[in-house]
Amino acid sequence: MRFGSWYQRIFAAVEAHGNQEHERMMAARKTALLAGLNGDVLEIGPGGGPNLAYYAPTIHWVGVEPNPHMHSYLRQEAARLGLSVDLRSGTAEALPAADQCMDAVVSTLVLCSVHDQTQALAEVRRVLRPGGRFIFLEHVAAPAGSRLRRVQNLVRPLWEAVGDGCHPNRETWLAIQKAGFAQVELAHFDLPIPFIPNYIAGYTVAGARA
Ligand SMILES: C[S@@+](CC[C@H](N)C(=O)[O-])C[C@H]1O[C@@H](n2cnc3c(N)ncnc32)[C@H](O)[C@@H]1O
Repeated sequence: MRFGSWYQRIFAAVEAHGNQEHERMMAARKTALLAGLNGDVLEIGPGGGPNLAYYAPTIHWVGVEPNPHMHSYLRQEAARLGLSVDLRSGTAEALPAADQCMDAVVSTLVLCSVHDQTQALAEVRRVLRPGGRFIFLEHVAAPAGSRLRRVQNLVRPLWEAVGDGCHPNRETWLAIQKAGFAQVELAHFDLPIPFIPNYIAGYTVAGARA
């Protein structure tokens, strides 16, 4: 987290109120990815809870959100939807959850911001039961060599500073493919969003662990 508590507070308010259009553009994909989940579901970086409305009410939902100022927004959203939530402080790099205790882990627009993608993905694997799924929807780097990629590389330090650690230029699909999952199903798509129009969505399946 950057700039201390006041920055976290502002970012939480922006996140909770400012993404209606973005949300509308992702709604169909989120429904396809999230509505069918069952059992124990852990969401990393859930922010103000924009994904809560997509889940079946029968799941046991655990959220791991490092920004404490997001928590009240998320609890308000859960109350509005009539859902009970288990919201924990922590980071994706050190998940406060036991080994192999989750049927699914969800990440939307979070792997752009984690400090260490490799460690975060290792943690996702650790907490998933064999056969469990990691569901993701993330913005990613523009194609290598493109003009937009050069712009993303150039603005990355400022973007990261004002965007709560967000990187516009991460090749997140490569990190997911290298993370050791038994199966990876991933699609690239574009959205009409300035500077970060390139997205990936899909799921991985965790294999049996030694
Ligand atoms: C752009 S917001 C996305 C929020 C929500 N997932 C969504 O789709 O709108 C990024 C979220 O990731 C969280 N985050 C940042 N670094 C994190 C980390 N290392 N581990 C877990 N969450 C993190 C932020 O606090 C914030 O809630």
